[in-house]
Amino acid sequence: MKNKNQAAVQAIDEIEEALRYIARSGWDGFDCSARCLETLESWGKTPVGVKETLEDIRRDLGDCRRCGLSAGRKNIVFGAGSPGARLVFVGEGPGFDEDQQGEPFVGAAGRLLTKIIKAVGLTRDQVYICNIIKCRPPGNRNPEPDEVETCSPFLRRQLRAIKPEFVCALGKFAAQTILETTEPISRLRGRMYDFMDLRVIPTYHPAYLLRNTDKKREVWADMKLLMKAMGLPLP
Ligand code: URA
Repeated sequence: MKNKNQAAVQAIDEIEEALRYIARSGWDGFDCSARCLETLESWGKTPVGVKETLEDIRRDLGDCRRCGLSAGRKNIVFGAGSPGARLVFVGEGPGFDEDQQGEPFVGAAGRLLTKIIKAVGLTRDQVYICNIIKCRPPGNRNPEPDEVETCSPFLRRQLRAIKPEFVCALGKFAAQTILETTEPISRLRGRMYDFMDLRVIPTYHPAYLLRNTDKKREVWADMKLLMKAMGLPLP
């Protein structure tokens, strides 16, 4: 069941996608010529042929200058993994190592995430890994609301292109952004949420786990919940 906010976000996303479809069809704006109306008419009837791919989205992101984070970044960290993944891990934003390499979760927190993925019985190549924002905030500060607002449509488009069944939201920031809530992660974790055709499991961020090793038990409980829902064999 979608709330009004989710329904509005979905409607805006669909309008955006329709406009991109029109642009890809060779139009740089609206006109009312027969050909343009024909293009509009075909929108939605041929969704398979026009479905955006991750490459389309990356191309559209380009050398992004849509927010101030572009000034200090070395690399855009778009995401990595399987474009057909059943499970997507979403973190907050790139840190130093990710910015240097242009790959998500490759630093210390990333190494722990790799172990978590392995413990679930999967590999990094079988899942998709990305972040709410694609550029490193200076000094690893929290992303500002305008940066999230500018960047999160790209995450939504990535999720629509991949069509995963499950999203694991890593940490407070990803969980609150994806679930559109201000509830603390300690209250959000421990259960699965149905959200916009996705099953979302929030858990603690691996960087937080590195500092609070006593929370590993809770993360493992969340992963077991996820494995059960995905039909993966439990140890
Ligand atoms: N932390 C994140 O949230 N994302 C990364 O890619 C790396 C560290």
